[in-house]
Amino acid sequence: MTICYFTATGNCLYVASRIGGTLLSIPQLMRQERIEIEDEAVGVVCPVYNAEMPMMVRDFMRKASIRTGYFFFVYTYGMGYGEAFAHAKLAAEEAGLTLRYVNAVQMVDNFLPYFDMQEQIDTLPQKNVEGQLDAVCAEIAARKTVDVRITPITKAQMALYHKRLADRWLRKDTALSYTVSGDCIHCGVCAKVCPANNITVTAEGVRFSDHCEVCYACLQNCPQSAIHLPLEAGTAHFRNEHVTLNDIIQSNE
Ligand SMILES: Cc1cc2nc3c(=O)[nH]c(=O)nc-3n(C[C@H](O)[C@H](O)[C@H](O)COP(=O)(O)O)c2cc1C
Repeated sequence: MTICYFTATGNCLYVASRIGGTLLSIPQLMRQERIEIEDEAVGVVCPVYNAEMPMMVRDFMRKASIRTGYFFFVYTYGMGYGEAFAHAKLAAEEAGLTLRYVNAVQMVDNFLPYFDMQEQIDTLPQKNVEGQLDAVCAEIAARKTVDVRITPITKAQMALYHKRLADRWLRKDTALSYTVSGDCIHCGVCAKVCPANNITVTAEGVRFSDHCEVCYACLQNCPQSAIHLPLEAGTAHFRNEHVTLNDIIQSNE
């Protein structure tokens, strides 16, 4: 089994490692000229962003050539996954694949503008992550299949959230809105955890380019908590308890 994953704060890396098999980082795969993956089972593990998959994961689905008899998606999310299952089904179809299985694991919501990370961490036990994961892992091990029904209502809801163009603009706006405080020690961690290679650190400071994925890996993983958004719901930051900073660097550098 091969799992392709995208992660900013470790939830998806943890889920991917719990499911097992060979783990491949989507940001690293995307730096290859061609992506060819063949295995008996191939899965994508990624966060829900804006009720669908991250932009880079969608681009990955368009670029990769995947050959498998059992293709699946597992999302991680915090509050709600909207029509993310339907997006996975359609992205698979576009890639010439049949989505055999899809599920979502509710974990910490790392969307900093809305959620206080400390509150998210404190209330995590209520989400029973391990119980959810046991069920997902058992279903994948049994090669369970599920079908996603796409109705006209689903399509209308997908259109509502499916703002690819707006997302591309959001990338620029977000990158422009980051500020770096005087606590920055120019350690370069932000550049190393950025899945999009969007950050350069020099003696003069931190520079954000215009292809931000809006994943907040830089803010969440900054050892000095020096990077900020105009709006943050709290001061705490989050990284999955089973995942180290080095794991995130190795996934995204
Ligand atoms: C830009 C952005 C958008 C998000 N949108 C959603 C969403 O629509 N629904 C939701 O439940 N969680 C949303 N989240 C939360 C993540 O899906 C969730 O925290 C995920 O587990 C993070 O995975 P990671 O730790 O592997 O990066 C969003 C997070 C970010 C950064």
